[in-house]
Formats: sequence, structure tokens, C-alpha cells
Amino acid sequence: MRVITFGTFDVFHIGHVNILERAKEMGNYLIVGVSSDALNISKKGRPPIYSQEDRLKIVESLHCVDEVFIEESLDLKGQYINTYEADILVMGDDWKGKFDQFSSICSVKYFPRTEGISTTEVISQVKDLA
Ligand code: CTP
Repeated sequence: MRVITFGTFDVFHIGHVNILERAKEMGNYLIVGVSSDALNISKKGRPPIYSQEDRLKIVESLHCVDEVFIEESLDLKGQYINTYEADILVMGDDWKGKFDQFSSICSVKYFPRTEGISTTEVISQVKDLA
């Protein structure tokens, strides 16, 4: 089974490892769409700390990840699922219900987030230390 998931994966942390490992356990081939810098600026109003090239390389280096690509637009999810022939779409439960429309082309699963950590929180903690 081929599994696909998406995210920014900026300032890589344990919550990212946990969801990627859990996603891989759903099948035997894990594809990760890493959102582009431009997509993040439009989505979060700021550029990521790490460039898309570095974020892609970090995610690609994990042993649970088989293939990576840059996600250029949120509107292309269906196309990415088809292109990469994914059987299962995994997302964190911060997205619960938002991708149910793809259940006609693949199985859609939402996993609970790892509690107590996010990129935004890490950035703000580091800022507080400065
Ligand atoms: N994720 C998770 N547990 C966390 C943080 C993230 O399971 N504590 C998951 C998200 O649900 C998503 C993937 O990791 O499926 C990538 O999330 P991303 O938005 O890159 O990370 P966040 O830490 O949520 O970033 P931000 O604080 O900028 O929103």
C-alpha cells in the first residue's frame, strides 16, 4: 500500500517524526509532499525558517520516507494523490474532516497530533530565550 502525507516540516521536531512513522506503518511506501516556501507565505503569512530545499532534504533523509516532492498548491492534493498513486492519505487531526472529499479516490486517515509541540511553539520558545 502506498501512503501519502503533506506538511511544512519546518524546524523539524518529534511530532513530525511521529506522524511520518505512523503514516509508514499504514503501508509499505511513504510519499511526503513538503509545502513550498511560497505556499507557506500564503498559508501562514511568513516564510519558513528552513528553505524548501533543506526541508525536503531533511524529510527525505528519514528511513521511513521513500519519496518526497514539493507541494506547490493546496488545490492540487487530488492531483498529487493520483500522480503518486496513493492508496491512503494521512493527515494530522488538526485537518480533521478537511480532506474527506478525497475518500472517493483513496482512504483518508487523520492521526492525533503529538501533544505539546509545534513549529510555532518552538520558534516562540527560542525567541523568548534570545
Ligand atoms: N504534527 C503532529 N504533531 C505535532 C505537530 C505536527 O502530528 N505536534 C503533524 C501535522 O498534523 C501535520 C504534519 O505534522 O500532519 C506537518 O505539520 P506542520 O504544519 O509542518 O507542523 P506544525 O508543528 O504543526 O507547524 P506550525 O506550528 O507552523 O503549524
